[in-house]
Amino acid sequence: MIKLLLSPEVVSEYFHGRDDRITHLIENFLKNPDIHIWIMMHTVTELMRDHGKPKEVNQFFKDFPKIPLNDQLANLAVEMEIEFEAALSVVSAAAFKLNAVVTLNPATTIGSVSHISVEDAEKIGDIKADGPINFLELSNALNPIYNKLDGWFTEIIQSTAFAGGNHVKEFEKEFAEYCGAKHAVAVNSGTDALRFALTAMGIGPGDEVITVPNTFIATTEAISQVGAKTVFVDVSPETYNIEPDLIEKKITPNTKAILPVHLYGQLAEMDRIVKIADKHGLKVLEDACQAHGAISNKKRAGTFGNAAAFSMYPGKNLGAFGEAGCIITNDDEIANIASCLRDHGQSEKYVHRMEGYNGRMDNLQAASLRAKLPLLDQWNQNRREIAALYLEKLKRVRGVKLPKVKDVKAHVFHLFVILVDQPKELHEYLKGKKIFTGFHYPIPLHLQEAYQSLGHRLGDFPVTEELADSLISLPMFPEMNEAQVNRICEEIKRFYD
Ligand SMILES: Cc1ncc(COP(=O)(O)O)c(C=O)c1O
Repeated sequence: MIKLLLSPEVVSEYFHGRDDRITHLIENFLKNPDIHIWIMMHTVTELMRDHGKPKEVNQFFKDFPKIPLNDQLANLAVEMEIEFEAALSVVSAAAFKLNAVVTLNPATTIGSVSHISVEDAEKIGDIKADGPINFLELSNALNPIYNKLDGWFTEIIQSTAFAGGNHVKEFEKEFAEYCGAKHAVAVNSGTDALRFALTAMGIGPGDEVITVPNTFIATTEAISQVGAKTVFVDVSPETYNIEPDLIEKKITPNTKAILPVHLYGQLAEMDRIVKIADKHGLKVLEDACQAHGAISNKKRAGTFGNAAAFSMYPGKNLGAFGEAGCIITNDDEIANIASCLRDHGQSEKYVHRMEGYNGRMDNLQAASLRAKLPLLDQWNQNRREIAALYLEKLKRVRGVKLPKVKDVKAHVFHLFVILVDQPKELHEYLKGKKIFTGFHYPIPLHLQEAYQSLGHRLGDFPVTEELADSLISLPMFPEMNEAQVNRICEEIKRFYD
């Protein structure tokens, strides 16, 4: 991906359509998935003022990512002692990790960012991007929300409302409404969300909770940390989620809850799981940490069981700028107890209904999540389109087994995981080609040292074990383009040929 900043003169020429060469250049850039063009926010505001029809200007540039004018960058530009606009373009491009500034007066090269001419920019259009493809990229997702965040963060810093604050309350309202749940309780992490929800559901020492061995350890840490025992059930080889047919065999008089994980973003078979839970009088807590927005029969992830836990860790489909998480539930008592638990058991200031934890979400995280939430459905749709491209391009590759997607809306592709022969060798080969992959998760939980006391051994959960031996997670983030997916698939084909 090549990222370019257009200088104010180039933007102005393009807007006025005065130079065919520039019009042609920018239109080609806009069609090229390997090239991403940015403009400076103040260039647009100046055009709005000078042109006299601000609405028209605003509409013309509405889809361009814009770099806001920022005091710190302006100060750096002043110190450079060259023409101010040229300096500002270069420091802004460097700050936003862009590759170059396209200008009518190419003169300056500062650090890694050059000023390049329109002629050179035309040549870039022919370059096939072969730069690194990271496993996950977070920066591009921020383009459309910079301005909103800039305003909100400034307001929080000026008001010093860091702990608690209006954004936490507003985020709870908005996330509950988005999910279709009565309550959302914003907390400090997905792990806290799982822990607080389990305790609020009445689960504690002596109780057993059924879950899967192919998940992140936070799922089972939460069970142990509320004093309960983890009971593993193997997963389906089709969906990699809990196999409902195996659940009843593991129910004992001590079983109190089922904790299905919507792994990689795909909903577990919730109708069947809830039916089993109802039959045996069990509670259901959904681990929806990877499945924000997944939907089945008009119900979103998190609204099938008694409660659900979400992680808003930065890399998640809805991720904050640091640690964050959330519980959703329709149950007033679960919501009440969870809100006390996150805040030292307080029901009101210095009135402690119980002992709790320091597990609150802070106002800056809540503001970042509020800015991102309106984009979540679009991002999930982008992920589905990227997954569809992978599925199409890898379908006949020897050595590769693709995931089965039963209902495309019920999957939000937090991760795109395939099963392959020689996953470690493929990982190294792709790394050599600057394509970065991951493993989720390479050692099943029942074989981890941390769970030796449960007494499991190799062979206890054959599907999970087979998955762990052959899975590899390919790059997946909403801004990936078709050229990147093509390059990854071509390299995988080449490896197996
Ligand atoms: C399935 C699952 N459960 C729980 C968690 C824990 O979330 P957090 O890291 O926000 O505590 C994660 C996050 O990685 C996860 O993927």
